[in-house]
Amino acid sequence: MKISLGADHGAYELKEAVKKHLNEKGIEYTDYGCFSKESVDYPKYAYLAAAAVAKGESDFGIICCTTGLGVSMAANKVKGVRAAVCTDNHLAEMTRRHNNANVICMGQSVVSTEQAIEMVDIFLSTEFEGGRHQRRVDLLTDIENGKEL
Ligand code: RB5
Repeated sequence: MKISLGADHGAYELKEAVKKHLNEKGIEYTDYGCFSKESVDYPKYAYLAAAAVAKGESDFGIICCTTGLGVSMAANKVKGVRAAVCTDNHLAEMTRRHNNANVICMGQSVVSTEQAIEMVDIFLSTEFEGGRHQRRVDLLTDIENGKEL
C-alpha cells in the first residue's frame, strides 16, 4: 500500500504525526509537503497529494489543513478523487464502506492527534462494500464527467 500525504501550515504538525505513525507501521508514503509551519496555500498541497492518487501513484491520500475543509474542496476537484472530511471513527469507516473514498481529510484544529491516527488506521483497513454502493459511486463519476442526473 502506498499513501500520499499533503498538508498546509495549519496541519503541518498533524501531517508529521501521521508520517511517524506510517513509519512505525511500515507503510510506504510520499510526502508532498508542506515542509514547515510557514504560511502556504492549501490548494497546492491538496492537489499534489490528490493528483498522485488519481494518477495511480498511490492508493490513498491523507490530506490535512486547519479544518480539513479547504483541502477536501481542492482534492475533490481532481478527477477520480473522492475525498471525505472525517472527524470520528464512524465517518472514517463509512466513507470507505459506502463511498469508496480514496482520500481522507482531517483538520488539525478539529481532531486530536490520537483521533486522527485512529481514523487513519480505520480508513486504510476498511474495504469498500460495493453492491448498491458501486452504483452510487458510479453516479458520482457521472457528475464528475458532466452528465446530468
Ligand atoms: C489556513 O489558515 C486555513 O484557512 C487552512 O488551513 C484551512 O483550514 C482551509 O480550509
